[in-house]
Amino acid sequence: MAQAATAPTSMAANRPPTRLRAAAPQTKKTRASCSARPAQAAGESPGIADRGKSRPSCKTAPAWCRHWTGVGRLRDARIRQAGHTRHHAAHPIMQQSQPAAADCTSPFERTRFMTSTASIQTVGIIGAGTMGNGIAQACAAAGLDVVMVDISEQATAKGLASIAGSFDRLIKKDKLTEADKTAALARIRTGIDYALLDTAQLVIEAATENLALKLKILQQVDERVGPDVILASNTSSISITRLAAATGRADRFIGMHFFNPVPMMALVEVIRGLQTSDATHDAVRSLAERVGKTPISVRNAPGFVVNRILVPMINEAFFVLAEGVATAEDIDEGMKLGTNQPIGPLALADLIGLDVCLSVMEVYLEEFGDSKYRPCPLLREYVAAGRLGRKTRHGVYSY
Ligand SMILES: NC(=O)c1ccc[n+]([C@@H]2O[C@H](COP(=O)([O-])OP(=O)(O)OC[C@H]3O[C@@H](n4cnc5c(N)ncnc54)[C@H](O)[C@@H]3O)[C@@H](O)[C@H]2O)c1
Repeated sequence: MAQAATAPTSMAANRPPTRLRAAAPQTKKTRASCSARPAQAAGESPGIADRGKSRPSCKTAPAWCRHWTGVGRLRDARIRQAGHTRHHAAHPIMQQSQPAAADCTSPFERTRFMTSTASIQTVGIIGAGTMGNGIAQACAAAGLDVVMVDISEQATAKGLASIAGSFDRLIKKDKLTEADKTAALARIRTGIDYALLDTAQLVIEAATENLALKLKILQQVDERVGPDVILASNTSSISITRLAAATGRADRFIGMHFFNPVPMMALVEVIRGLQTSDATHDAVRSLAERVGKTPISVRNAPGFVVNRILVPMINEAFFVLAEGVATAEDIDEGMKLGTNQPIGPLALADLIGLDVCLSVMEVYLEEFGDSKYRPCPLLREYVAAGRLGRKTRHGVYSY
């Protein structure tokens, strides 16, 4: 996919805190719905083994296939943590695709599966900027060890300061203790030498959104880290399949699209490239859950899921404005009250940057070749006039 600007996800940073808080307690919600499950589901519904998949039973499976048992235990533990029983087939974890036994065709593959699923304890992060330090914070707060590398000590120091500041805000809101902060910060090591990444079982690339730069970084990391290590990219717009192809481990490469600000936003889009293996996908979904996020599985496609839906909606709001259907204020008010969005699409466009919205639509138009993605002429007009939104103090609205 051609390069697109990256900001659409950053709009999330500007959502009111109430909204952000509302996104977090997912587990509680799930637990509540589970406690009301019918007795039949608890006692009689089929478990994982009986869900129509050709899974060998634990007793009869050959020794090399015992990873099934391991997967079952891990999932059971996660389900129990969320207040479910193993037999509650409605739980989302039960809906996840099981890795096929056929995935494990060689001892090497099987060893890799076990390693990647069960033993990610250190996460390497490339880039200490907005997203890199946010991911580092979320991982460290969840008890994982983190190594975060950037191109200068200044950048890593800035990233660490940002994490400390974010922890301080959580302490002020009584969501964290000083001791938690100290412990989490102690789990983060930083530096400018990629050798630091040698201890990681998962490396997440969160460097500047530039295709050539990312390809170079990923090739370097691929040569450096062990064969079992999973590589992930937090790119907003570059094809995961394309990045994966630059490495010698396309099956162990995946997209992990976090949202900004990472510590507050619950979602991670887990994006499978063409050759991403089931084992890699499962390990990364599981890791996302360990850091308190809710993953959704996405096939590699321009804009993934959220931006693919969000930016065309903004573009449509410009069409509605251009046709004089309603004023900007009424369009935003209508979408806020009528669809329960925290901010209207035109105000959101001003936050993201009108140039970014335009560039994303242009990428969709080019990649899909479908006229439904044509940018609204009014959007083009505003961008041509330099009305880029809040950053130029004038977009749809004046600031
Ligand atoms: N900002 C967002 O809202 C957002 C949301 C989702 C995804 N993303 C994606 O996350 C990635 C990072 O975005 P960001 O907003 O954090 O950018 P940023 O500019 O804040 O940070 C990028 C960091 O990468 C570092 N870097 C550059 N080259 C490097 C190298 N060779 N090795 C190590 N570090 C290097 C830079 O010094 C900088 O600190 C991008 O791919 C972006 O598309 C951004």
